[in-house]
Amino acid sequence: MEFLDVIHKRHSIRQFDSKEIDVKKLESLLQIISSAPSAGDLQSYELVLVKDQSHREALAHAALGQEFIHTAPVVLVFCANADRAKQKYGHRGEILYSVQDATIAATYAQLAAVELGLATTWVGAFDEEYVRDIVGELKPICIMPIGYPAEKPEPTPRRPIKDITHYEHL
Ligand SMILES: Cc1cc2nc3c(=O)[nH]c(=O)nc-3n(C[C@H](O)[C@H](O)[C@H](O)COP(=O)(O)O)c2cc1C
Repeated sequence: MEFLDVIHKRHSIRQFDSKEIDVKKLESLLQIISSAPSAGDLQSYELVLVKDQSHREALAHAALGQEFIHTAPVVLVFCANADRAKQKYGHRGEILYSVQDATIAATYAQLAAVELGLATTWVGAFDEEYVRDIVGELKPICIMPIGYPAEKPEPTPRRPIKDITHYEHL
């Protein structure tokens, strides 16, 4: 797919088909995610791939009852590995770069999913402690259900470019 088609076709999807994602497709997805840039090329994030239904349901509860999450066959949880970035970059690596690395990787996942005929939603509203209890002890940045779309939402509006862009200073 052309890059701009991927960009324009990506929409948050909150209804998923129950169809499984085949292993080859998941491998391609993971490969694309791992090509994301990261501070010092350290890739200071960890990715938890959740398939087990009871774990998916637990993640939906941890995400304040956003039930659509467990209807996807796979849920990815992107976590910041603060210690990894801290070793090279100290406090800035710990609190910022590890979060940015995880964020960029998750963005790649959203775009890669479209290229592979899949869909996602970025879920940021969750109880952090609850998510840690489910996937392990790192800072969760994003929960991302992924699967085949079962809805076709309209594009959502964006702020005008001129309101966002500031020339030379704010
Ligand atoms: C940081 C962040 C947190 C978000 N949290 C949630 C969430 O908890 N639940 C949800 O349904 N969507 C969530 N979204 C998805 C946004 O609502 C969605 O991206 C936005 O409305 C634009 O729609 P689009 O993705 O279809 O372009 C989140 C997106 C981002 C980037």
